[in-house]
Amino acid sequence: RWGLETNWIGKSIIHKESTTSTQHIAHDEARNGAAHGTIIIADEQTNGKGRMNRSWFSTKGKGMWLSIILRPKISPLQAPQLTLLTATVLADVLHSYCNVQPLIKWPNDILLHDKKIVGILTEMQAEQDIINYIVIGIGLNVNQSKDDLPEEISHRATSLLIETEKEHSIKALIQEILTTFEKSYDQYIKNGFPEIKQKWESYGFKIGEEITIKTLKDHFRAIFLGIEEDGALRIKRMDGSIEKLYSAEIDWFEK
Ligand code: BTN
Repeated sequence: RWGLETNWIGKSIIHKESTTSTQHIAHDEARNGAAHGTIIIADEQTNGKGRMNRSWFSTKGKGMWLSIILRPKISPLQAPQLTLLTATVLADVLHSYCNVQPLIKWPNDILLHDKKIVGILTEMQAEQDIINYIVIGIGLNVNQSKDDLPEEISHRATSLLIETEKEHSIKALIQEILTTFEKSYDQYIKNGFPEIKQKWESYGFKIGEEITIKTLKDHFRAIFLGIEEDGALRIKRMDGSIEKLYSAEIDWFEK
């Protein structure tokens, strides 16, 4: 029914017309033993979740709201690499299938013309050094018009309809994204992170430029050098010192 020709991803697809959040369903399913590659899709989320406890607007039928359950045999410390991998998959599909020019804002927001079109939320269940499961949630704005986007995000969010002036099939996008994801994941397991890192940096927003970084404690200017082997942000402070940051945000609407 979803027309997928993949080896392991989407062998089981749970589709809901409406749900609170596909992340919630995915956690329940994973706890109950759902297989690696299980997909949860919803036409509408009434309580979509974003990073840092933010909410994610998920209007019925207007976007792709999807969660992937993974059971990778990697260290929990490598989990951020999977988030960056997911961002490169989305950027690749937007670029080659939708003919737009995406940039990835570290760690994993995808921007078109400086406005956000994709959000990715990774949640992990691990004990000590062993990952039980990872849920990667992807929200892609597809067929929202300007008026469909809530007022509070409309200045910094966009959709494929707004960018390309035509409607896109959500089902076809799901096929492209899952097929590309499977290929990229299999390559990552075989060859490790360097290929993903290189691809990520080719889409990186403001690499080599001076940016404002916000952490929990403060905010400061620095040069964005790229990403590290483990996915951390690599920056050069104004005093010349080089640092790795794991949790920070790049200020977006700076002038
Ligand atoms: C962010 O940019 O803050 C991440 C947004 C992630 C949204 C997706 S939509 C599918 C999945 N279910 C959720 O509740 N959230 C993620």
